[in-house]
Amino acid sequence: MSNSILKGKKGIIFGALDSKSIAWKVAEAAKSEGAEFVLTNAPVALRMGGINELAEKTSSIVVPADATSVEDLKNLYAKAMDELGGKIDFVLHSIGMSVNVRKGRQYYDQNYDWTMKGMDVSAISFHKTLQAAWELDALNEYASVLGLSYIAAQRVFHSYNDMADNKAVLESIARSFGYHYGKRKKVRVNTISQSPTVTTAGSGVKGFDGFYQFADDLSPLGNASADDCANYCITLFSDYTKKVTMQNLFHDGGFSFMGISADVMDNYMKAKGEN
Ligand SMILES: NC(=O)c1ccc[n+]([C@@H]2O[C@H](COP(=O)([O-])OP(=O)(O)OC[C@H]3O[C@@H](n4cnc5c(N)ncnc54)[C@H](O)[C@@H]3O)[C@@H](O)[C@H]2O)c1
Repeated sequence: MSNSILKGKKGIIFGALDSKSIAWKVAEAAKSEGAEFVLTNAPVALRMGGINELAEKTSSIVVPADATSVEDLKNLYAKAMDELGGKIDFVLHSIGMSVNVRKGRQYYDQNYDWTMKGMDVSAISFHKTLQAAWELDALNEYASVLGLSYIAAQRVFHSYNDMADNKAVLESIARSFGYHYGKRKKVRVNTISQSPTVTTAGSGVKGFDGFYQFADDLSPLGNASADDCANYCITLFSDYTKKVTMQNLFHDGGFSFMGISADVMDNYMKAKGEN
């Protein structure tokens, strides 16, 4: 699919680790829609992943930045504006990590140093990304800044752990900064609440296969894939959504508004031995 709806737009894409990453798919889609962009990830991730392959494929440069470092972020904007020859039209923040999840600590048994680290990486970095842009006046009017969220921000998913709190903060930052940046420069700030997706970060959540399957069964359209998510991101970077801001937008095949479905009920009753 290519309709050049991002022709002439300049962007920054955070979080492409490998070819399964949502950010990787967004970069491929943005390229085919005519955008130019800079790719970025944490220095340690650059050593592990295959981002250079993506850079080559999309004719982009890679600028390392730890999204928790304001200094790195300012350097990233400066380099991106230099490389792309002007201010930025879209930013994708596709970053998430919980040390408690990684180390198998339960929600009610958190190591608070790890909690703070995860909050900084997964949520406060979104604020830092916006504030660094604000201070450098790095965004064009009607620029679009997107973060990626999950429905555990609103509802309990038993093993999503402290990432649920991180996503709630992320969505709140989109609303609050969306107000300030909208007033100042008509910049749009939104989050997309995406279906469970098979990626490195997604699969790290305990019981991920169950989340994935249950959501797929319950959603009338089935789970949205990383490619579907990329297409949705492209619409939100485009001029077709200029008045959409401060929203958390569910992109989940209908999951968020379902109660129960015939398939899920049948499976449940079978498992209970009742039909
Ligand atoms: N996969 C899912 O099921 C799912 C569902 C809903 C939302 N999301 C969200 O989508 C986003 C992208 O995740 P993904 O599923 O593509 O997984 P992923 O593991 O491919 O991407 C996560 C990225 O975060 C980067 N990152 C971690 N710490 C960083 C730091 N300090 N500075 C800069 N970057 C850092 C990683 O290097 C990686 O590239 C995350 O916000 C995630 O929570 C994922």
